[in-house]
Amino acid sequence: MPADSKTKTTILTLRRHKRTGEKTVLVTAYDYPQAMIADKAGVDAILVGDSCGMTTHGFKTTIPVTMDMMIIHAGAVSRGANDAFLIGDMPYMSYQPSDQIAIENAGRFIKAGMDCVKVEGAMVDRVKAICDSGIMVMSHLGLTPHTRAKMGGYRVQGKTAKSAEIVLKQARSLEEAGCSFLLLEAMPREAAEMIARELHMPVYGIGAGDKVDGQLVIMHDLVGLFWEFKSKFVKRYCEAGQMIQNALEDYRDEVKNAKFPAKENFYEIKEEELEKLLGDSGWKYEDLRVENQANPNHSVTPKTTKKGD
Ligand code: KIV
Repeated sequence: MPADSKTKTTILTLRRHKRTGEKTVLVTAYDYPQAMIADKAGVDAILVGDSCGMTTHGFKTTIPVTMDMMIIHAGAVSRGANDAFLIGDMPYMSYQPSDQIAIENAGRFIKAGMDCVKVEGAMVDRVKAICDSGIMVMSHLGLTPHTRAKMGGYRVQGKTAKSAEIVLKQARSLEEAGCSFLLLEAMPREAAEMIARELHMPVYGIGAGDKVDGQLVIMHDLVGLFWEFKSKFVKRYCEAGQMIQNALEDYRDEVKNAKFPAKENFYEIKEEELEKLLGDSGWKYEDLRVENQANPNHSVTPKTTKKGD
């Protein structure tokens, strides 16, 4: 069995952050290069979120996302990230039907390389069943997209004392059930802070202010690869979509103007092999060789003379 990497973030690291007040940095990733980049950037944890349904598959909500889709994303992320703590997001109807189904699906995430699973809502018994099976759970309260219709849409939660108290009560029950982490989405800063202080487990926020134990942002929001809408809590750190589009436009122009590929991109053939190749073919490529060309970046118009022409 391979030894754990010395730099791998574990539950112990994340609990230490909570104790010492060091903020934990979480980001989503859905594939191998994103995971590698997040890991190299030194984020503490990666969520393979079912937000991939919207950001990567183009669905309008996360509801159509399936376990099979998530397992492909989780496997790719686990191959790209060495150090980050990995969380697999249980998609709609992967945990609701029964304890048995929830445990089996959580187990699939662990087999795909995840350290923990995330479960939306306050299904306390369900979360307990997963925890009792030995799998770590991050609960997700506040705005929970799987039940957005019941909430009347994507709405900030816990804006009244009564509703914030309900979230706190749910969070306490989930902690008692064995849950290891809590994620709060779209809640007022003070309500989220109170919940984070009341609980022993690390409490992270996405749109829940700066007083929780760490922050999650969806990578596509952060780097400018999602354009459908921009939540108030999102900060764009770059415009990767625009950068990629600029690169593709340069590529298009260079191909159209015969500037790409250029000499450094060509494979060479030895002189004698070229002569053999041309041999009896009837074709003459007097200026075919790159070194014979005045401007190798410009298109070669070979002087082709077919035998018998
Ligand atoms: O799927 C996801 O990325 C999430 C976050 C929005 C919390 O669940």
